Amino acid sequence: MRILSGIQPSGILHAGNYFGMMKPSIELQDQGEAFYFIADYHSMTSLTDAKLRREYTQRVAIDFLACGLDPERAVLFKQSDVPEHVELSWMLSTVCPMGLLERCHSYKDKIAKGVSPNHGLFAYPVLMAADILIYDAEVVPVGQDQKQHVEVTRDLANKFNDLYGETFVVPEPRIRRDVAKVPGIDGGKMSKSYNNTVDIFGDQKAIKKRIMSIVMDSRSMEEPKPDAEENFAVQILKYVTDESTYQETLDALKAGGYGYGHLKKKLFECYWEYFAEARQRREELMANLDYVQEVLDKGAEKARSIASVVNKRARIACGLE
Ligand code: ADP
Ligand code: TRP
Repeated sequence: MRILSGIQPSGILHAGNYFGMMKPSIELQDQGEAFYFIADYHSMTSLTDAKLRREYTQRVAIDFLACGLDPERAVLFKQSDVPEHVELSWMLSTVCPMGLLERCHSYKDKIAKGVSPNHGLFAYPVLMAADILIYDAEVVPVGQDQKQHVEVTRDLANKFNDLYGETFVVPEPRIRRDVAKVPGIDGGKMSKSYNNTVDIFGDQKAIKKRIMSIVMDSRSMEEPKPDAEENFAVQILKYVTDESTYQETLDALKAGGYGYGHLKKKLFECYWEYFAEARQRREELMANLDYVQEVLDKGAEKARSIASVVNKRARIACGLE
């Protein structure tokens, strides 16, 4: 089974990215041939600071490795090291109806927020389709918000196959229902764009402060809270602790006499502990940046060896060769 996913270097990685995309991807590295990349071309649609792009790109690589991506089992690379993605993106754009892109939620949401769109933002799903199809990927692990983009990919693969003969594998999104939408500190979807994130790595005090500011209702410590499952801190706690600690906390909230201060303190302890091992590995990687670069270089070589074959297949199919 060929697995592929990507993440943009457009900010600091947070718990939503980790539980929604990175952790499922890391778990899948044992179940097939996995390709994970840093979508730096995609990041150009929203980030226009070259220095920051370089920094975030390196940081995504470090953080992904620290969290357990094993370069012996999965191929980690930077998208722009494989420029064939862009060539295939052009080919796919010629079979892509405008309406398909106009219907994309992520594009519409950005417009609704007042972003003035560039062509790259509009064409974003076409490049994403190329990213996926160029590896003959079968499974694409992503969070719920990327489902529609994988559907566009399926449409474009089918359209191209119908027009030019069987060329592409039609992929499936793999969305884990339990982690489809990690809440942010305001209860909305945790996202870099909403300033409601809790970072995976970062200063202890800053993380504690974020957790302490998770929005709560005004019930007192004494009051029983029968709807504790709805609480955002409880929902995050579920990801970072074992079943029995989670259950104990839930029971205590429901019984009353256990307040939101206790809950947040517990969440912070569990959160900090959960990422302790990754934090340690991250320190080691930060001291060995040459190794990180080597992983990306080797990854690019491996990725390119596959992408160039599929790209050629597409070139031949549509008569460029
Ligand atoms: P952001 O919304 O912070 O900009 P991205 O759009 O860069 O995050 O998402 C990168 C990956 O992380 C995607 O696969 C996305 O589905 C996943 N992801 C992001 N936020 C969440 C969340 N709150 N819950 C689950 N998955 C998420
Ligand atoms: N659009 C994805 C995101 O914002 C990143 C991405 C780019 C991607 N290309 C991909 C994800 C291909 C999966 C497969 O999260």
